[in-house]
Amino acid sequence: MGGCFRVWQRLAIATLFSAFFVTMLAIPAFSATKKVIFDTDPGTDDAMALMLALNSPELDVRAVTVVPGNVTAKQGLENALRMMSLANRCDIPIAAGAQHPLFQKLITAEFWHGKNGLANIELPPSKCKVDSRYGPDLIIEMVHAAPHEITLVPVGPLTNIALAVEKDPSIVPLVKEVIIMGGSITGGNSTAAAEANIYNDPEAAQIVFQAGWPLTMVGLDVGDKTLFSTKYVEQLGQSHGPVNDFIYQVAHYLIDLAAKFGSDGTPMYDPLAVGVAIDATLVKAPAMHVDVETRGEFTRGETVANRHGAVERNVLHGDRYIIEGLDKVEPNAKVCVDVDADRFLQLFVSRIRGK
Ligand code: BDR
Ligand code: CA
Repeated sequence: MGGCFRVWQRLAIATLFSAFFVTMLAIPAFSATKKVIFDTDPGTDDAMALMLALNSPELDVRAVTVVPGNVTAKQGLENALRMMSLANRCDIPIAAGAQHPLFQKLITAEFWHGKNGLANIELPPSKCKVDSRYGPDLIIEMVHAAPHEITLVPVGPLTNIALAVEKDPSIVPLVKEVIIMGGSITGGNSTAAAEANIYNDPEAAQIVFQAGWPLTMVGLDVGDKTLFSTKYVEQLGQSHGPVNDFIYQVAHYLIDLAAKFGSDGTPMYDPLAVGVAIDATLVKAPAMHVDVETRGEFTRGETVANRHGAVERNVLHGDRYIIEGLDKVEPNAKVCVDVDADRFLQLFVSRIRGK
């Protein structure tokens, strides 16, 4: 009897163990949530990116800092406050930052984003209040309070991030990573060479690219492959809620706008940067050295990427230079060159629908 009991006992324990391991296999490997500071110039695709971040359990949005770009700093702050209120997230600090780019006049983009920057959608007045801290100072404070834990996700011009680095360079090794929406290695959208976020503050961008932290560039190259089309927006139309309905309207506005320019869908620039923060396997991003052109007559604001890791060493001999070898160039960025677009767009839809 005792022997029989031990057999049953062993069987029961074995069953329990196998059930436990099967359950463990079914659950994705444990990964801690990423603490994120979202720096934004809201903005239609900024709105989509913000709601993706707030609705994703992988991310813990610690602060929203506002930078001028798509709209003025004042309008951007109002938009951020109203969106955070709509999402019922007044617990997250929302701070104003820079009022203009470092060395040039602000260029705003109501032409693309609607006269209020949010597709002309009038959101209810905000219940959230603005944080009294200055955006770059808030970034500095939060990075020191959680060393090696904060991921910066700037999806507008890089003015706030550059101001934070210039004021306190000691944050650089304490930031976990920086995932920017900006730049391109295959031509621009503001000019033939420059992407809008970089073009709107090239000096700030050069500071951010040269700072020496782990940086991922989510540029036009991949953003243009993530076209949000009617097929996806219709899925959003099947569910309802304040955020769902707002994003549905924003997406409709952008798809209609894209159609006027002969495109089947709207590129998900800013949301993809958040997507990469959620799941870096969505993109292919080889390491490169990137500099920002700040002087070129036709190329100011271009992100110039060295894909070979070297430049020729030209040595002056009399009246000419002779190439004597190659000098190594260290990468300073991972540059996204490809994306699993459908997987990302489905992720976006399901998160906005609250699934
Ligand atoms: C970027 O420029 C802005 O208009 C968008 O919000 C995005 O951040 C794309 O070039
Ligand atoms: Ca933006």
